[in-house]
Amino acid sequence: MILETKDLCKSFGSLNALQNVDLTVEKGKILGIAGPNGAGKSTLFNVIAGHYPLSAGKIDFNGEDITRLNSHQVCHRGLVRTFQVPTTFKTLTVYDNIRVGSTFGRKDFKASKGIIEETIELLGLNEYRDTEASHLDLYTTKMVMLAACLATDCKLLMLDEPLAGLAMNEIEDFLQVIRKISGKGGITIIMIEHILDTLIEISDHMLVLDNGTVIYTGSPEGVFEDQQVIECYLGKVEE
Ligand SMILES: Nc1ncnc2c1ncn2[C@@H]1O[C@H](COP(=O)(O)OP(=O)(O)OP(=O)(O)O)[C@@H](O)[C@H]1O
Ligand SMILES: [Mg+2]
Repeated sequence: MILETKDLCKSFGSLNALQNVDLTVEKGKILGIAGPNGAGKSTLFNVIAGHYPLSAGKIDFNGEDITRLNSHQVCHRGLVRTFQVPTTFKTLTVYDNIRVGSTFGRKDFKASKGIIEETIELLGLNEYRDTEASHLDLYTTKMVMLAACLATDCKLLMLDEPLAGLAMNEIEDFLQVIRKISGKGGITIIMIEHILDTLIEISDHMLVLDNGTVIYTGSPEGVFEDQQVIECYLGKVEE
């Protein structure tokens, strides 16, 4: 296992956003995370990535206890994430956005030219390398955010609703990119997504959250047969 969480809890005042969340991710695999709005999916990313301190629980990554590390320390160990709202440095070019990721995301603060070029090639960003990020469409902006992560030479990538707002053909292109990243060098991926069909198609394993609690963990195909998942999405049928 490259990532393992035990009894993760996160409260915001009286709201229990995460309650005893156990999660395991196998190296090189894709874990899909689903759940209704407000289920705690982004909060889970925020506590794993060190953006929010945990209320309780333990996180092990790549054989190390990272529970109390802050976000840049977590990133320097090879665990990176994208945000639900596309985030780039708007006044920097695509190349410089990726360079910033590669510089500050690495422990030695030395951008790797080789990795930057490899990432630009992998994500098809060459024609935009000198374009200011503010001029990019949504799909390309998301690719730049992804590229900045990959250029850190990460081991595990967490994607928070990367497909939101994309057209059907862009979703297909994005999934192709995810498959390439996963295949190449065996980067482990955790992906949050609302479209269940799509998530099932791309994931090796799935986890569903509802009200901060894990209600399903298992094979992607098993999701549609699970009573708790059905009730959480469609409501309970009264006898
Ligand atoms: N910084 C915060 N302060 C207070 N409450 C928060 C904070 N972040 C999240 N919450 C609350 O925690 C709960 C879980 O939110 P979270 O953003 O993790 O849900 P989500 O599953 O990502 O939802 P969505 O699908 O809409 O993105 C929600 O009730 C939300 O209002
Ligand atoms: Mg969210």
